[in-house]
Amino acid sequence: MTALFVALPGNDLMADKLASLCGGERGGIETRQFPDGETYLRFRVDPTGRDVVLVSTLVHPNEAFLPLAFAAGTARELGARQIGLVAPYLGYMRQDQCFQPGEGVTSRHFAALLSQICDWLITIDPHLHRYRNLGDIYTIPASALHAGSVIADWIKHNIGTPFIIGPDEESVQWVSEIARDCGAPFAVLHKRRLGDRDVRIAPDGLNNIREATPVLVDDIISSGETMLEAIRLVKSLTTSAPIAIGVHGIFADGSDARIEAAGVTLVTTNSIPHASNRIDVANLLALAISKQLRRYSA
Ligand code: R5P
Repeated sequence: MTALFVALPGNDLMADKLASLCGGERGGIETRQFPDGETYLRFRVDPTGRDVVLVSTLVHPNEAFLPLAFAAGTARELGARQIGLVAPYLGYMRQDQCFQPGEGVTSRHFAALLSQICDWLITIDPHLHRYRNLGDIYTIPASALHAGSVIADWIKHNIGTPFIIGPDEESVQWVSEIARDCGAPFAVLHKRRLGDRDVRIAPDGLNNIREATPVLVDDIISSGETMLEAIRLVKSLTTSAPIAIGVHGIFADGSDARIEAAGVTLVTTNSIPHASNRIDVANLLALAISKQLRRYSA
C-alpha cells in the first residue's frame, strides 16, 4: 500500500506536493480546539498497517509539538506500520550549549521528545553548529538535507553577477558551497551577538563587491538583526540593491517588513510558508522520503 501523507495544521501545501511527488496518498486529520484550549484530533483515513508520513514544519515548536505528538500517538495506536516525520524546519536547534549555569540545552530535550514519537525524521539545514550531525542528539534515523544546491540554482537563474555573502562564521558551510555551485565569489563576515536582538558585524572580505549584486545567505532569519546588520554594512559599500536569502524565514517580530523596508529583495525556501517563498525544497524532501520509506520497509 502507498504511504499516507498527513499534514499537521498549516502544512497542507507541502504535504500535497510531497504526496504527489512520492506517489503517496494524501490523508487528512481533523483537528480543533476544545473551549478550554485542548486539542481534538481524528484521522480521516485509517492508518492501520500503513506507512504514515507526518508533515509538520516546527517553526513554532511549542504550539506544534502537542498536535504532532497526538497525531503520532494516534497513528501508532491505530496500527500504523511506520511513522516518519518530515519537518522542513526543525526548531530548538540553536540552543545547543549551556551558556549560563542552570540553562536547559533544549535542543537535546526536544530531540528526545521527537525521538520517542516517530520512527524517523527528515529535515533541511538544521542549525548544526556545535553538534556534528543530528545523530548526536536524535536516537531515531534523522537526515539533514541541504538546500544549498536549490539555492545556487535559483541564484544562477535570477542574478547576473552575484557576490555571495555569509553574515557570520557559521554560514561558511552553506555559503562556500553555494558560491562554488554558482561560480561566484564569496565572503564570510564576522559576527558578535551581544543579545537576542543585538548583533555587530565586521566588514571583512567585501573589497570587490562594487560591480556585483550582493546576495546575503543565512540559514535562519528570525529577529532579522543578523541580516539587517549585514545589509547595513553591504549598503555602505555598494549602491547595488542586495538580495537576502534565508533557508528558513521565521521572521519574528515582523522582521520581514523591516528587511524589505531596507530596500532588499527577500527570498526564502518554502520550508516555512511565507510570501517570500521563491525556492522550492519539495523535490529535495521527496527524494529523501522515498529512500527512507524503502529503507524502513526493507
Ligand atoms: C546563527 O548563527 C544563525 O546562523 C543565524 O545567523 C541567526 O539564527 C539569525 O538570527 P536572527 O535573525 O535573530 O539574527
